[in-house]
Amino acid sequence: MTARATRSQTEARAGVLGWPISHSLSPALHGYWLERLGLPGRYEARAVEPGRFDGAARSLIQDEGWRGFNVTIPHKEAAFRYCPDHDPDARRLGAVNTVVVTEDGTVQGRNTDLHGFRANLESDPEWRHVGRARAVLLGAGGASRAVVAALQDWGFGEITVVNRTVGKAETLLAELGAVNGTAVTWTEAEAALVGADLLINGTSLGMIGQQPLDLSLRSLPRAALVTDLVYAPLETALLAQARQRGNAAVDGLGMLLHQAAPGFQAWFGTPTLPRVDEALRNHVLAVRERLSG
Ligand code: ATR
Repeated sequence: MTARATRSQTEARAGVLGWPISHSLSPALHGYWLERLGLPGRYEARAVEPGRFDGAARSLIQDEGWRGFNVTIPHKEAAFRYCPDHDPDARRLGAVNTVVVTEDGTVQGRNTDLHGFRANLESDPEWRHVGRARAVLLGAGGASRAVVAALQDWGFGEITVVNRTVGKAETLLAELGAVNGTAVTWTEAEAALVGADLLINGTSLGMIGQQPLDLSLRSLPRAALVTDLVYAPLETALLAQARQRGNAAVDGLGMLLHQAAPGFQAWFGTPTLPRVDEALRNHVLAVRERLSG
C-alpha cells in the first residue's frame, strides 16, 4: 500500500473565488449536484480581494489540493494571466471563469460562459423558431463578449451592439473579429430593433439595486426572442414587457446553471455533464431567497 491515495480515492475539492462572494449561488448549485449524485466532494466559496488572485489560487491548488475552481468578478482576467494553458473559448474571450487542474497537474483556464449562454437558449422550446438574420445586444462589458461569440457561432447575419460607450462596443466587435457587427448608442436602440430576431440584455441595467432598463420594444417583431443576462430579479422589466406583447422570453438563471456544469464534470469526474432541470432551478431560487432575506 502506498501512503498517498490516488486522485480518484481522495475527496475532490473545488469552489468559487470572487469579491464579494457571500451572495454566490455556486455553492448551492454544486452542492445540489454532489448530493443528488452521491459524490464525496466539497465546493466552497472563498472571498479573494482584488489583486490577491495569484496567491490564493496557488495556495488552494498546492496546499489544499483543490482540483480547480470557478472564478468570478473581479478575477476573470487575472485568472487568464495566471493559467499557463487555456481552452479555445478562454483564448477567444480573453477571460477564465473555470480553472481545472488536470490529471498531469497542468493548471488549465477554461471559459464556460459561452457554453452557458448557448445551452440556456438552445434548451428553450422557442429557440428553434428564432431566425438568424439579426441580433441586438445591449451592453459591451465582460458578459457581452460571450454573447457575441455565441451569436457568431449561431451564424447571425448582423449583430448590433448598443452601448453607452460606443468605442467599447467597437473594440469588443473588433477583438472577436465580428465583421458583421455594428456599434450604436442608446438613442439608436429602438431603431435597431426593427427586423431583429433576438434581443439580449448584457448590461447590469434592470438588476436589483441598479438603474432600470428603459427601452420600448414597440419596433421589435413579435417573432423575436428576448433574453436577459440579469437574473435578479428573475422576471426583469424587459422580459415582462416582452411577454406582455407576445414575444418569447428566456430568463438569465439558466445561463448561470449551464455555465457551472462543465466545471463540475471536470472536478468531480462525472462521465457526462450534470443535469440542469426544474428541480435545480427551484433549489437555487430557494437558496437565493434565504441569502437575500
Ligand atoms: P459585466 O462584466 O457584467 O458585463 P461590465 O463590464 O461592468 O460588467 O459591463 C456593464 C455593462 O453595462 C456595460 O455595457 C455598461 O456600459 P458602458 O460600457 O458604457 O459602461 C453597461 N452599463 C452599466 N451601467 C449603465 C448605465 N447606467 N447606463 C448605460 N449602460 C450601463
